[in-house]
Formats: sequence, C-alpha cells, structure tokens
Amino acid sequence: MPKTSLRRIASAAAEGRALTWLTCYDFSMASALNETDLDMILVGDSGGMVVLGFEDTVPVTMEQMLTLTAAVRRGAPDKFLVGDMPKGSYEISHGDAVQNAMRFVKETGCDAVKLEGGALMSETVAAIVSAGIPVIGHVGLTPQSSGALGGYRVIGRDEEEVGGLVDDALALERAGASLVLIEAVPPSVGAKVTEALSVPTFGIGAGPHVNGQLMILHDLLGLYPMFRPKFAKCFIPDVIEGFKATLASESNKDARELVPPRDGFFELTRLATQRFVEDVWTGNFPGVEQWYRE
Ligand code: KIV
Repeated sequence: MPKTSLRRIASAAAEGRALTWLTCYDFSMASALNETDLDMILVGDSGGMVVLGFEDTVPVTMEQMLTLTAAVRRGAPDKFLVGDMPKGSYEISHGDAVQNAMRFVKETGCDAVKLEGGALMSETVAAIVSAGIPVIGHVGLTPQSSGALGGYRVIGRDEEEVGGLVDDALALERAGASLVLIEAVPPSVGAKVTEALSVPTFGIGAGPHVNGQLMILHDLLGLYPMFRPKFAKCFIPDVIEGFKATLASESNKDARELVPPRDGFFELTRLATQRFVEDVWTGNFPGVEQWYRE
C-alpha cells in the first residue's frame, strides 16, 4: 500500500472510508505494521509507560521520543508517521515548540507532530504550522495534563464540558491543525465534534461516529500488564486460529531459506493489526463494549 498523505486522509474521510491509526515504538513491530493496510502510526509518549516503564507520560523527554520515532520510521517507511510532542517540549514558548517540532521532522523523518490541548494551544499550533510542519490536535482526555483534569476520566458528560470541547477543537482547526484526535468521550460527543469540524477526526475511546480510530498497540496485543482502558480491545484471540494455520504452513518450509519463518510474534502482530484495520472498516470496532456510556 503506498504511503498515505494528509490529502488522501481528508478525501478518505470525505468519502466515508474509516481510517486507522496505531501507536508503535520500535523497529520490529513497525516492520510488521508496515505490511498491513493501516493508514497511520503514532509514536505516542505512551511509550514512556509501555516501553520505558514510567507510571505516566510526564517524565518522557524529547531525546527519548526522537530515538523511538526514528526507529519506527526505519521499520515503517511506507506509513504516515506522527511524532508525539512530550510534556514540556511545546508549552513554554512558541520558539521552543517550533524548534522541537522541527527536530522531530528533521531527526526522525516523521510526517507530522501531535500535541495535547485545545484553544490554549491554538497559537502554538499556528506557529508550528507556519513553519511548514503539519500538526494534529488532541482534545478530551489529555494524559499529559490529567492531573489538572481531575485524573484519568471520561470527558464531556455535561453540557458545559461538551461546549468547551467543541470550542477547543474548532480553535485547533482555525489554527491550522490537519486532524483532531478526541480521547475518552461518550459517542454523542465524538459525533458532535466531528460534525462541527471540516478536518477529519480520530477517536480513541470516542465511539464510532468519528472519521478514524486510534488504538495503543500494546492494548491491541495484550502486552501491557498494568491496565487496559475500557475502549481498548486485545485482538490476539481473534487471530489465533489464522496464526495456527500459518504455523502449519511455515513448518513445511525449507529451513535453509534466508527469510526467518513467520512462526512468532512478528506474524501475530501483523495479523492482529490487519484484523483491527478490517474491523474498523466493517464497523465491528469499536463495539458497544468499548463505548463510554452517555
Ligand atoms: O501517547 C499516546 O499514545 C497518545 C494516545 C493516548 C492518544 O497520545
């Protein structure tokens, strides 16, 4: 599949084709994702938790994000790649924000950056966009400031919060954000934000009425032992029978072949990712079990 572009993402959304996005943090898994129909990859600062073992995303540094993002770029040259700006890399001044966004594109080869926050971040978004770097906004639950939001919680359960969320997303769009990610809101709120915007929306725990779905790779693979949010689904049980069939055919191959056999975690990751993509296309994901109540 050729590497997608923001234009292609926008036209797919306009045509009603659901879009797919997964996080990833290393070369090998990125190579597996590169072989699927996935549209985009995010090197999220969630890597600070699932790869580096921090309790939350706050301690993650620019250097760590640059190392992880460059590794993913090497593994997935064909995917639209987004680098996640870590806490402290964009809030202090517009100069800092532009300089750090520039480091992402120059040192990792990513295609866009993502940062958290709504209207308060709109001038920062505009500054980065003016430097020629596409920006993806992130509203709703924003883990870098979960303390200020009153912990990890569903956002948008009262009128005032919903109004604020729509205003935040509109401010990001006006500032030039190419896409807006909405996290942890009831489905009607995901729908309301999507209707209000002209740019495509992605949801992570925002129900089915958004243009695309994002999931954390370690949730999809059941690889993070600490917790799994309600909106996430482990896809391994759905692909295990297909994997067993691959094992049987691999065992018949000539052991002297140079290519390593597809008998392990690489193949499982590829199969689970492709199933996620197809389930989003067919509307099977997210299912009601993954929605937040209104
Ligand atoms: O870091 C990350 O993976 C993210 C998602 C939680 C949206 O920002």
